Amino acid sequence: MRVLVTGGAGFIGSHVVEALRTRGHEPVVYDVRTDPGADVRDAAAVARALAGVDAVCHQAAMVGLGNGVADAPEYVSRNDLGTAVLLAAMAQAGVGRLVLAGSMVVYGEGRYTCPRHGVVRPGPRAVADLDAGRFEPRCPVCGAELS
Ligand SMILES: NC(=O)c1ccc[n+]([C@@H]2O[C@H](COP(=O)([O-])OP(=O)(O)OC[C@H]3O[C@@H](n4cnc5c(N)ncnc54)[C@H](O)[C@@H]3O)[C@@H](O)[C@H]2O)c1
Ligand SMILES: [Zn+2]
Repeated sequence: MRVLVTGGAGFIGSHVVEALRTRGHEPVVYDVRTDPGADVRDAAAVARALAGVDAVCHQAAMVGLGNGVADAPEYVSRNDLGTAVLLAAMAQAGVGRLVLAGSMVVYGEGRYTCPRHGVVRPGPRAVADLDAGRFEPRCPVCGAELS
């Protein structure tokens, strides 16, 4: 399978590229770090890169929070606009398979068991907990420790 890996020169993308190669697939790296012309916001360049592609693994992004609100336009541009341009180009090219990097900031910490409430899904950890060194998520209902 030929897989376009956006952000393929980055941390996750480079491991995806290696994993694909190991399994006999054909990864195509699309990353501004290695090729200034390979920007996910460039619709024409993305369209060219999608030729013959079966699936896309989308890892291109501006990563890292807390650098100041002045970064917001660049974050939105690379992450939101970039994803939108990619999706539009995929639709145009008829490429229907996508793996999109998410973040547990969005989907929470996963599935745990509370001794009183059974299966619970705690949301993102609170800043106060992190500041106090409490890194394990607590029951969202009663605050108990979870397993
Ligand atoms: N690393 C983690 O632990 C982690 C955890 C959860 C989610 N994620 C998400 O996974 C994705 C990849 O993260 P990462 O840690 O590999 O980041 P990274 O910074 O190592 O890699 C991102 C790559 O995207 C490229 N890139 C940036 N803007 C681009 C653009 N406009 N066009 C083309 N390429 C562009 C960069 O050059 C870089 O190589 C991000 O969406 C990140 O939020 C990462
Ligand atoms: Zn509970």
